[in-house]
Amino acid sequence: MKLMDNWLKRISRISSWLLLTGVVVLVVSGWGITQTGAIFNATGGLIDRRTADMIHRGVVLPMAVFFLLHVFINIWLKFKRSRPWVKYPAAALILALGAVILWLVIYMEYIRLGG
Ligand code: HEM
Repeated sequence: MKLMDNWLKRISRISSWLLLTGVVVLVVSGWGITQTGAIFNATGGLIDRRTADMIHRGVVLPMAVFFLLHVFINIWLKFKRSRPWVKYPAAALILALGAVILWLVIYMEYIRLGG
């Protein structure tokens, strides 16, 4: 169990740094859409509005995965420490909630047509 906890903590920490990177990419690509000229110049012409839009949309799903991993692992480890008798129902609830949120992101980003 201790080994699994250590692996979960490692996954949560790696996810947190990838999430933080994702937040920076989301903000800069967002500026690439609203402040195109500034980002185009700052990137030496690498990122125009179309590329910024593609990056901005493309980073949403990975960020959702990293956010869910980082937050839900930390919430579960906290539950396990403070209320060990509910650790399995809590795990089931967290996994179900994570699956619903991930599905919602995939549906909104890749399935549902805009508008
Ligand atoms: C965009 C949102 C977030 C980002 C970018 C983020 C980023 C980070 C980073 C970089 C760390 C340090 C990881 C390390 O020690 O190597 C961390 C730790 C932590 N975060 Fe977050 N975090 C976010 C949201 C949250 C939320 C919403 C929660 C709580 C529900 C949370 C709970 C924690 C906890 C408990 C730790 C300490 C875990 C440990 O010691 O391993 N974080 N976070």
